[in-house]
Amino acid sequence: MSASSIRLPLWARAVASAGTSPAGQILLGVDYYPDQTPEALWEEDSRMMSEMGFTNVRIAEFAWALMEPSEGKFEFGWLHRAIQILHKHNIGVILGTPSAAPPPWLSAKYPDIFEVNAQGQRLRPGGRRFTCPTNPVYRKLSLAIATQMAKKFGETEGVIGWQIDNELTLGTSLRCYCNFCQAGFQNWLRTRYTTLDNLNQSWGTVFWSQTYTDFSQVPVPLLSGGDPNPGLALDYDRYQSYANVSFTEEQLTMLRQMCPTHFVTTNNVGLLDTIDMCDLYAKLDFAAFDNYPGFFDMLMAQEGKPPSSDGIATTISLGHDLARSVKGGEPFMIMEEQSGKAGQRTFAPQPEAGQVRLWTYQAVAHGAMGVNYFRWDTATFGAEEYWHGILNHDRSKSPAYEEIRQTVKELKALGQEVLYSQYAAQMALVFDYDCSWALKIQPGHYALDYMNQVTSWYGAISASHTGIDVIAPEADLSPYKIVFAPLAYVMSEKQAAKIKSFVQGGGMFVTNFRLGVKTETSQIVRTPLPGLLRDVMGVTVADYVPIYSAKNAVKFAPALAGPDGECGLWADILQPTGAEVLASYTKGSHAGEAAITMNTVGSGKAVYIGADLDGASLARVLRTLSGLAGIKPPLEVPPGIELTVRRAGDKQWTFVLNHTAVSQSVSIPKTFTDLLTGKTRTGKIDVSGYGVEVLQSA
Ligand code: GAL
Repeated sequence: MSASSIRLPLWARAVASAGTSPAGQILLGVDYYPDQTPEALWEEDSRMMSEMGFTNVRIAEFAWALMEPSEGKFEFGWLHRAIQILHKHNIGVILGTPSAAPPPWLSAKYPDIFEVNAQGQRLRPGGRRFTCPTNPVYRKLSLAIATQMAKKFGETEGVIGWQIDNELTLGTSLRCYCNFCQAGFQNWLRTRYTTLDNLNQSWGTVFWSQTYTDFSQVPVPLLSGGDPNPGLALDYDRYQSYANVSFTEEQLTMLRQMCPTHFVTTNNVGLLDTIDMCDLYAKLDFAAFDNYPGFFDMLMAQEGKPPSSDGIATTISLGHDLARSVKGGEPFMIMEEQSGKAGQRTFAPQPEAGQVRLWTYQAVAHGAMGVNYFRWDTATFGAEEYWHGILNHDRSKSPAYEEIRQTVKELKALGQEVLYSQYAAQMALVFDYDCSWALKIQPGHYALDYMNQVTSWYGAISASHTGIDVIAPEADLSPYKIVFAPLAYVMSEKQAAKIKSFVQGGGMFVTNFRLGVKTETSQIVRTPLPGLLRDVMGVTVADYVPIYSAKNAVKFAPALAGPDGECGLWADILQPTGAEVLASYTKGSHAGEAAITMNTVGSGKAVYIGADLDGASLARVLRTLSGLAGIKPPLEVPPGIELTVRRAGDKQWTFVLNHTAVSQSVSIPKTFTDLLTGKTRTGKIDVSGYGVEVLQSA
């Protein structure tokens, strides 16, 4: 398959038609704020960006006050001039619609638009993202400003696409509980359940006398004298996700009509579960994620975790794999990539020399078709004056400036064939928003957290370097050899049927405790656990045990040989009804009972890890199981080295990424060419600290 034989997606055609760069070239740009920069500097900025080889900028996503200084009065002259200057220098423009930060006149006139948080307090203006996603006035005015932008710039040369809003997943309060949301929720419930009888049955409202006789009586899950009904609470999370998606789609529908040749996306921080990403990006052209590795470093330190470049690298990879997977494997964009010190009140240090290049390649290795660096210059005012860009406060060049210039040059030379190749994944990790939400509502153990489990499973399985798709619970499992689904707490009949036929057909399904406990309406199943998956797992859960001071441990059978493991937060006590036992508990009243089992069904296997294993044991168990499923690393590499493979027809490229500061040696079985240097690589090769190689079979 050659790049020229591919029908280019809308984003690639938009880029080409704007004359910004050749069709289908990778987008390499920067987040730029002409609204925060004296006009006298725009020309110099654009010239410098062009000299760096940038193809595009993203602008205006926080400039509502300048574009609409008072209600209905629009001023786009400044933005038009900025776009013209950028275009003159061959820089394409992604326009941001500004709904993440409404101006003060709007807040003063319409205080009903402010979000109400889980404590029932109304947020105040003064920051950003303080608005309710359901509020009709906020929606109307957000759509109005976006429509005026589309009218003004729909035909403007240089404009290539749109970013709707900014980071809908991230805010001080992640759910709104205002009266508008309550009414919106009630309407959504009418559509979902049709009748009150159905709703009452589905939630079990007879408990605590909560039977509703009118949809208008249904509350939002704000503070009451006791916890809310779990079915109501889970539906409220679904409603809030839906409200944000439908807010986005209002602007999208308008943009599709008014700017049919432009691409449309929205940007997000990936590893947050506030909005279902598959729903959010379903109608958008591509997923766009923001990537700030330094932030993870800061957070880990804050949480008292030991520093780990591997931990950061795998967290980033998980974000990238999610970004690619939400659109079924299509290319995604990094709309904001850390280029300097990152933070607001406190900040992460300047990335080490080589790291920004490494992170850029890491994104491309996982399927990115574009990387925008955050940000061009560093503001000397505002809440993010310590968030450093490519130019420092005094406009001198940051330490990453030259590195980014070099990276842009290299990536353009890498060519379209690599860019359009497929990321090859042999494994899948299920990511289920319902499970995450339901476990937040009732974690069962205060420290049990869906996202933590997903992240540690990803960390363990990514060590095999055979590619991971992060899939929705009801996705097609047939492309994979092995599917991992930690904490699959809510299980639909459709998902259970897919798992059964996957295993029957020869796949390996690996899951753990709290399996299949809940129906989709958040009731507990009326059959012995693991409910719908009892047959395929070949076990019954005899008991489920949260663990606090009475720690447990497990002894492994020879198939999983290794030192005894700790059992930290939870133990599902398994009673095999056909499965073989791979580990048993060693302590307390359940000593000797099964902790891990494997069932053979058809030509496949179903593995139940009942114990919450310590990190090292979990990693060893998941690696051993992957091996049994036929997973083999493409190369044996030391810790800190990441590999990804991309394929097109019979061609294949192996990205070798060194996430450590020191040189690492990697043995390669045949002769390759490193596309970045053109050098032949064979035998034992040294990959420099933070170095990257893109190996193609010679
Ligand atoms: C992102 C956000 C940007 C900017 C950046 C640095 O989360 O989209 O607007 O805030 O972080 O803080």
